Amino acid sequence: MHFKARLPLAALTVALIVSPLANAAPPAQTPPMGWNSWNFFAEKVTDKDIRAAADQLVSTGMKDAGYIYVNIDDTWEAERDASGVLHTNSKFPDMKALADYVHSKGLKIGIYSGPGNKTCGGYAASLGHEEQDAKMYAEWGIDYLKYDLCSFIPDVMEKQEPNDKAAQMKLMIDAYTKMGKALQATGRPIVFSLCQYGWDSPWEWAPAIGGNSWRSTGDISPDWDRIYTILEQQAGLEKYAGPGHWNDPDMLEVGNGKLTLEENRAHFSMWAMLASPLLAGNDLPNMKPEIKEILTNKDVVAIDQDTLGKQASRVYADGEDEVWVRHLSGGALAIAVLAAGDSRYSTHPFHLDLEKLGLHGPQKGKNLWTGKEVTLTQNMPIEITSHDVLLVRVANPK
Ligand code: GLA
Repeated sequence: MHFKARLPLAALTVALIVSPLANAAPPAQTPPMGWNSWNFFAEKVTDKDIRAAADQLVSTGMKDAGYIYVNIDDTWEAERDASGVLHTNSKFPDMKALADYVHSKGLKIGIYSGPGNKTCGGYAASLGHEEQDAKMYAEWGIDYLKYDLCSFIPDVMEKQEPNDKAAQMKLMIDAYTKMGKALQATGRPIVFSLCQYGWDSPWEWAPAIGGNSWRSTGDISPDWDRIYTILEQQAGLEKYAGPGHWNDPDMLEVGNGKLTLEENRAHFSMWAMLASPLLAGNDLPNMKPEIKEILTNKDVVAIDQDTLGKQASRVYADGEDEVWVRHLSGGALAIAVLAAGDSRYSTHPFHLDLEKLGLHGPQKGKNLWTGKEVTLTQNMPIEITSHDVLLVRVANPK
């Protein structure tokens, strides 16, 4: 009797020692946050840059704000040896040591590959080596994989099914399924980030194959037109996002290129409204204070990370102004009024129609960029600079 009672406890203890990760919560219950090397460094990224990024995430307070993943994008790869093992190139002399370093800072590390023979940058990718690569990532301690379609299109889709688009898409889904299974088989919780530019509605099939996020568009660039074009493509996708599986309108360009302060703020606000992964892509060692202020605005980050996991909907547009609404836990509401167009005057002052948002009477809220309390009233005139945003959280909408 005594022995029997103790057995399950002993078995449980053994299970926990042998497989500490088996019981870990599934990843990406809120949109993944971190930094990725591509938008600033592109193919030039090195081990040193990744270490510096990890150091900077800690010293700037970004880690405390929630930026946990340090993701190496394309161009870390060398060639495979006779046993099929993929080696790192001279820019990344020791991936395990790099992962250990990133982990020692209390951060997580991500890597990049693709289902074809080559990555988008022309480096070796995972075709035919999916299990082997996934196992190696787990041995290194990798926590996040971005898996980028690129050469799978000519290597496999167009070669095997030159005249059948549906069959091509099936091959693509099978390839992502294969890597999803290989990652799961490692027993390590690794965020699986699909990058296939939104082809064939990945939001419909990616969650079922273990995808934690899927790119919903082509590549972002640091200019307002591109950012706005991507934003427009997100309207209607809100029903597909939720804890563990997110639409990904691509990584942040906040602080990059010639984006103005207003554009940086609006881009960040809207990505938070979209429950998007927040992967900063800027030059962290040279980050300007105003950019740090944007990326670490705790109220805006909290919108993105809201545990209800409901992505914003575009409720209405008036001229060049758009009103997006996101339902938050506890019955709260985030309202974003975006002055998307170039002309400051076409619809200004903008009159906010609360009735269209299902709200009746004055609404008390907080302006998340000034930190001040505001009361929104029916048809109130609002002045917003071109490419800027008014972002308000209403705790008790009526
Ligand atoms: C594609 C992706 C980018 C980046 C590059 C790397 O273009 O969409 O985000 O990963 O490949 O080569």
